[in-house]
Amino acid sequence: MIQYKVSLKSLNTFGIDAIADSYALIQSTDDISQILEKHGEKELLILGGGSNILLTKDFNGLVLKNDIQGFRIVEESEVDVVVEAGAGMNWHQFVMRCIDCNYGGLENLSLIPGNVGASPMQNIGAYGVEIKDVFTYLDAYHIKEKKSKRFYFDDCKFGYRESIFKNELKGEYLICRVAFRLSKKHTVKTSYGAIEDELESMGINHPTIKNVSQAVINIRQSKLPDPNKIGNAGSFFKNPIVSMELLEKLQNKYPDIPHYPAPDHKVKLAAGWLIEQSGWKGKTYDNRYGVHKLQALVLVNYKDAKGDEILALSSQIIKDVQQKFNVSLEREVNII
Ligand code: FAD
Ligand code: EPU
Repeated sequence: MIQYKVSLKSLNTFGIDAIADSYALIQSTDDISQILEKHGEKELLILGGGSNILLTKDFNGLVLKNDIQGFRIVEESEVDVVVEAGAGMNWHQFVMRCIDCNYGGLENLSLIPGNVGASPMQNIGAYGVEIKDVFTYLDAYHIKEKKSKRFYFDDCKFGYRESIFKNELKGEYLICRVAFRLSKKHTVKTSYGAIEDELESMGINHPTIKNVSQAVINIRQSKLPDPNKIGNAGSFFKNPIVSMELLEKLQNKYPDIPHYPAPDHKVKLAAGWLIEQSGWKGKTYDNRYGVHKLQALVLVNYKDAKGDEILALSSQIIKDVQQKFNVSLEREVNII
């Protein structure tokens, strides 16, 4: 059923009050084809949990909120299992369900907001794991050609916070289901960031996947603002990947600059550090919006901010970081 003039405020974690001209909930591929047959000429916005978008104006088209559910085992052996989930399933609930079944591989990705269907869009990642590490296939519906296609790993062109769906195929497909190959005999990944310290303070010596999940949840809750309390979309920018030459130049002036290895002899810098050093951490405008006081990579809406105000703030940050460090920050959040 199509609704008209719908507020999207509760449907995006930034809490931006934009109005959609029309809106529909879809629960199957049949729903999609029926709705597109009637309204396909309009501009479309596919919405999952709304946790990686910034709405900068009212949306003068049709918002399709993906609510395709489902959880099934497609393949199983003694060592692993392929689990397929509907795109509309909440990501964290999906991860918890896999852990309850003792299927390993997603525990480091606990508590990431949003839905299963958006997870391949930017190859979500945290604490040393990206979904590409366990991705098997996805089924997507081509909006113009009105037919479904299965995409395997190589088709998706995954990169750091990237996939083909964010680039060449942007806006062309609606992802309906995603499948992951998960382990039954686990190798936990605890070397990233503060996981080991957290496990130690939990008194855990031989961590299970459930323990790792809980450690990640504890760390995330201590670092990142809860979107139910403060509007945000997680990291607003990607961590920039730069050449070794640039890193060496920067190290002459800033010997403590955090950096991590990246593919092709490059290095990844910490955007949060660059933004903090540029003086932006905790900056707040009219008590309404600004840069989070504990994590400079997260822009926040305290109260009634407009999307274009947050966008303008992000442009100022990009300009300052460019001037100070000669590093270009790229937005991670999808600007609508
Ligand atoms: P939405 O915001 O609804 O959509 C994102 C984009 O994908 C839009 O362009 C939308 O059109 C498109 N899209 C959504 N669903 C579909 C579909 N079914 N088919 C086609 N296109 C679709 N991300 C990380 O990678 N790592 C993190 O650690 C992390 N931490 C976060 C912490 C917080 C507090 C918040 C608020 C966000 C965080 N994020 C993180 C970002 C966000 O959670 C992820 O990008 C998530 O996958 C977005 O899912 P969503 O369903 O909310 O997508
Ligand atoms: N830092 C600062 N000041 C800050 C923030 C960070 O100096 O205000 C420094 C930290 O001290 C640390 C470094 O920056 O040395 C990295 O910080 P952190 O470990 O908090 O991770 P991040 O780079 O800020 C990335 C992802 C997160 C993901 C975490 C954990 C990106 C863009 N962000 O954050 O993903 O959860 O690592 O793996 O890659 C997201 O994508 O929305 C997201 C939250």
